[in-house]
Amino acid sequence: MKAVLLGATNGLGRALAQEMASRGAQLCLLGRNLQALEKSAKDLEIRGAGGSVATVPCDLLNRECFDRALQDADAALEGFDTVVVTAGVFGTQDELEADLERASDLLMTNFTNTVMFCELARKQLLKRGGGTLCVFSSVAGDRGRKPAVLYGATKAGISHYMEGLDHRYHEEGLSAVLVKPGFVKTSMTAGMKPSLFAAEPASVARTVLNAIHKGKPVVYVPGVWSLVMLVIRWLPRFVMRRVGF
Ligand SMILES: NC(=O)c1ccc[n+]([C@@H]2O[C@H](COP(=O)([O-])OP(=O)(O)OC[C@H]3O[C@@H](n4cnc5c(N)ncnc54)[C@H](OP(=O)(O)O)[C@@H]3O)[C@@H](O)[C@H]2O)c1
Repeated sequence: MKAVLLGATNGLGRALAQEMASRGAQLCLLGRNLQALEKSAKDLEIRGAGGSVATVPCDLLNRECFDRALQDADAALEGFDTVVVTAGVFGTQDELEADLERASDLLMTNFTNTVMFCELARKQLLKRGGGTLCVFSSVAGDRGRKPAVLYGATKAGISHYMEGLDHRYHEEGLSAVLVKPGFVKTSMTAGMKPSLFAAEPASVARTVLNAIHKGKPVVYVPGVWSLVMLVIRWLPRFVMRRVGF
């Protein structure tokens, strides 16, 4: 496996990169914080990544850098076969309603620019005959809910986009893997009260890597969320208006 990861300096991306490294994958890390990238790269080399782990600057809020970053990653890995996007930001509905600038950055980071980055990655993968594009959405995208109207909307958009890519490009060799985590204990959720079925990043990473190998189009992590969301997707609107979750 020759994988490019955007968002591996922390949380789920870091855990997935560590799992890949322990299985000898060749890795290239993209991110906005060069010091954090270098630190992560060294850690992954110690854990068994194939060869030296390359690092390339890439800020999801700056669309101008995407093409260059993917070209540099391609050169560093002599052609990649997998791209993983775990980079993303969170804000509660109250925080985002109180700060429109932050809301705008969240919409740009989690949806518009993630899609623009994925469009370039998808083209590059298909140019070489195919590969895997794995993107982290959330169970929050499965239904509009009071506490996560804006964050949930970005995740709904990403889930829809990935489903469309799967339908459009699967025949050409693109494996679009959409990950929908529930609550996972990472820096994103630090300080929040763990919800039901709260998971550890390492176990999520193992499940996701197996899903990538199998080419699963949708993976809920932990798996119990597929059943929970099946019920929530069918709850009538008058119930959703009343409940506060
Ligand atoms: N944790 C959960 O409970 C949970 C649940 C459902 C879905 N998810 C989704 O899973 C994904 C990973 O979440 P996580 O918990 O691992 O989050 P995290 O611990 O906060 O890590 C987020 C990563 O995204 C990077 N990032 C943020 N903004 C960026 C930007 N503008 N440009 C480049 N990189 C940027 C961060 O880089 P820096 O090191 O530079 O900050 C960091 O590496 C996200 O899409 C999140 O929405 C998480």
